[in-house]
Amino acid sequence: MKTLVILSSILGERSNSKQLADHLIARVKASNPAAIVKVRDIGAQPIPYFDGNTAGALFTPAEGRSVEQQRIVELSDSLVAELMEADRIVFAVPVYNFNLPAQFKSYLDHLARAGVTFRYTPEGVPEGLVKGKQVFVLTARGGKAEGTPSDTLTPYLRQMLGFLGMSDVTFVAAEGMAMGEVAALEGVAQAKQRIDALLAETAQTSLAA
Ligand SMILES: Cc1cc2nc3c(=O)[nH]c(=O)nc-3n(C[C@H](O)[C@H](O)[C@H](O)COP(=O)(O)O)c2cc1C
Repeated sequence: MKTLVILSSILGERSNSKQLADHLIARVKASNPAAIVKVRDIGAQPIPYFDGNTAGALFTPAEGRSVEQQRIVELSDSLVAELMEADRIVFAVPVYNFNLPAQFKSYLDHLARAGVTFRYTPEGVPEGLVKGKQVFVLTARGGKAEGTPSDTLTPYLRQMLGFLGMSDVTFVAAEGMAMGEVAALEGVAQAKQRIDALLAETAQTSLAA
């Protein structure tokens, strides 16, 4: 099983969502030292902002692209390819200003491509083409908002990932990161326990299959 991990915090080694991802990676490698895990850190190395040039390049037919447009499409192609190759995808996503980091939004904008990651059926119904993935979204937030109207990240990501075909999506939230040391430690510990339980469940399911 190939695992792709996308980190998107701007806080480097102090990142709580990265701590959750590191925990998951350690558990995956402990249970299978040969497991293939690829990590992309778009907080440290951001995907370029999705602007008019990017959209222009992606909408231009291959034969008409300038060298600069080819370079832009190659980046998008490589992001899509690594996503398609993965069996399990882990998105480590902090909450900044009520939603996901701009870096992660830009990443998603580079992935959403008609005819590549989604298409419209002859009836005009959208169909996601990134299918058969097990997806974990590991979030960290300063307050406690999961499941409340203030949590605008979870419904947005569920919608967006679902649109691209990712329907098996499980959210794990470390909450209370800015509510004092005890609350933060507790929030991270609970999230790690949940990750352990989810991985144990996955192992059981694949044994049974
Ligand atoms: C720029 C910025 C904006 C933030 N906005 C929110 C917010 O809207 N709601 C919240 O609960 N926490 C907010 N926080 C706290 C973060 O969610 C918290 O620090 C979390 O640990 C971030 O994940 P990370 O450590 O992986 O970067 C914000 C933090 C930063 C740096």
